[in-house]
Amino acid sequence: MKKILVCISGASGASLGLKLYNMIPSNYERYLVVSKNAKIVLEKEENIFLDDDISAAPASGSFGIDITFIVPTSMNTLAKIALGIADNLITRSALVAIKEKKKLILAPREMPFTQIHLKYMYELSTYPNIYIAPPIIAYYNNPKTLNDIEMFLIGKWFDLAGIKNNFFKRWE
Ligand SMILES: Cc1cc2nc3c(=O)[nH]c(=O)nc-3n(C[C@H](O)[C@H](O)[C@H](O)COP(=O)(O)O)c2cc1C
Repeated sequence: MKKILVCISGASGASLGLKLYNMIPSNYERYLVVSKNAKIVLEKEENIFLDDDISAAPASGSFGIDITFIVPTSMNTLAKIALGIADNLITRSALVAIKEKKKLILAPREMPFTQIHLKYMYELSTYPNIYIAPPIIAYYNNPKTLNDIEMFLIGKWFDLAGIKNNFFKRWE
């Protein structure tokens, strides 16, 4: 069974990462890591309180994670990954994905982006196994609700990961 790791860093929209995690089909083994700062964002934006129960298994390449999502990716986490800093389970897992050449899907969230953010996004986008896929909404599928927007985003992220889905209306 393929293993998927979903990491939630402390950018706005941490609940979107939780939703993505919950949408992963049951034929995948799934794991979740939440950064300390993501917990603060979740508390402020969603009234969700999470405990500190994170497993260290994904910190080792031998655990065999196939696909890693970091949704959302804070600029802090983005910069650390680009610089090769592995100071927590999320940044370490990202660097494991890079060294093992496994899919790493990053969803950087900030408004506006600075030169620093764009430089690191560009650098990471040159790795063949990394996707820079920010939570940017589309209008062509005529979203009516926040759920429509989120399902479009999760569907696009799943497409990148090779996870079949019909979460949004495709352009024909
Ligand atoms: C309510 C709230 C919203 C935030 N939104 C963002 C954001 O959209 N993007 C971002 O890069 N940082 C955002 N931050 C700041 C990050 O949480 C902060 O840089 C933190 O150090 C990130 O840590 P992490 O990368 O370990 O999760 C936000 C913070 C708070 C409290």
